[in-house]
Amino acid sequence: MTGKRRPAAKGRGTPSRTRPSPEDATPPPPTAAPPAIGEIPIPGAAKPHPALGLGLWALGRWSPEDEARTKATIGRAYERGIRWFDTAEVYGGGRSERLLGEVLERAAGGGPDAYVETKVSWEHLRPAQVRASVINSLERLGRHSIDLYLVHGPDPRADLAETLRALEALWKEGKVGAIGVSNFSVEDLEAAAKGLTEARIVVNQVRYNLFDREDADPVREYCRDHGILIEAYTPMARGLLHGRYLDGKSVPTEVRQFAHRFFEPERLPGLVERARRLRALAREADVPLASIALHWLARQGAAPVIGMSRPEQVDSNLAAWGVRPPDEVLDRADAIARGERA
Ligand SMILES: NC(=O)c1ccc[n+]([C@@H]2O[C@H](COP(=O)([O-])OP(=O)(O)OC[C@H]3O[C@@H](n4cnc5c(N)ncnc54)[C@H](OP(=O)(O)O)[C@@H]3O)[C@@H](O)[C@H]2O)c1
Repeated sequence: MTGKRRPAAKGRGTPSRTRPSPEDATPPPPTAAPPAIGEIPIPGAAKPHPALGLGLWALGRWSPEDEARTKATIGRAYERGIRWFDTAEVYGGGRSERLLGEVLERAAGGGPDAYVETKVSWEHLRPAQVRASVINSLERLGRHSIDLYLVHGPDPRADLAETLRALEALWKEGKVGAIGVSNFSVEDLEAAAKGLTEARIVVNQVRYNLFDREDADPVREYCRDHGILIEAYTPMARGLLHGRYLDGKSVPTEVRQFAHRFFEPERLPGLVERARRLRALAREADVPLASIALHWLARQGAAPVIGMSRPEQVDSNLAAWGVRPPDEVLDRADAIARGERA
């Protein structure tokens, strides 16, 4: 892989006239004009990559009664200018892709300007499986092409070069617009790249937020040096960086369960203490806490993909994106999140 590049977004950080409260507890009125989201050009990809996206992993928690809310959330996101939608064949056993396809079809005649990203499961990495997964995702999404197609995670039993070779063939056929990976280490990226001759890996989607950052992890430096955009998942630490759980509310089991080691009982009090200090910083700087979380990531060259489960969250997150905290505030936030004392 060649083409050294440090991803830089255009049009990010445009100040917004509407500011949510630091805790994002009060959504702004839906009539407030959404901020420009911005794009990140990616060499070798058919379309520029939007700087902020909606993640469709836990939308509606997959129960039928939440379907209307899920669709309303996707619809609101599209209406308010979000174009990057992140899903996967494993999300809700295909339901996430299907709902996205339905909303885009109804709301926007197929959403030709949407940036649709989906993923092949780590259990489907053999070439014939990859092809079948792409065909099935296209059918569920109701599209002819997937803008960005990721390998959801490495499988030590799979030959990653073979998997990527199969993906390159689908890229040449136009079924996928660009190829990416997720949860890949430097070794995985190097092994995978061996399968590509003309296409390149344009994205690595990893867990990344102010608290969950593993500063010593070499993968981000590798990606920066090889022009691979980092997509940051779990950017809001499952709501903690919206100010949740800071006033005594306990973390629900379902959030705890799917939060890796994040909300382990021995870790939580320290996290809450640092998140409270971040909230105080946000109040002092008169910016939303979520703005600090999002723009700290953007400043690292990462593109956050936020999970949102209701339309008001779309408004609130967009309003937070529209407020770019000063660098000095982001520097202090960085130090607080690392546990440094003033
Ligand atoms: N590649 C991978 O392996 C991988 C793994 C995990 C996630 N992802 C992707 O990344 C996306 C986001 O990650 P994530 O869902 O783990 O974490 P996240 O974005 O850090 O947190 C999402 C949660 O924050 C809460 N939230 C969102 N907006 C809010 C607001 N304005 N105010 C208050 N709370 C708000 C919502 O909780 P409630 O729903 O409870 O209201 C939402 O479910 C996923 O949807 C998925 O697309 C990828």
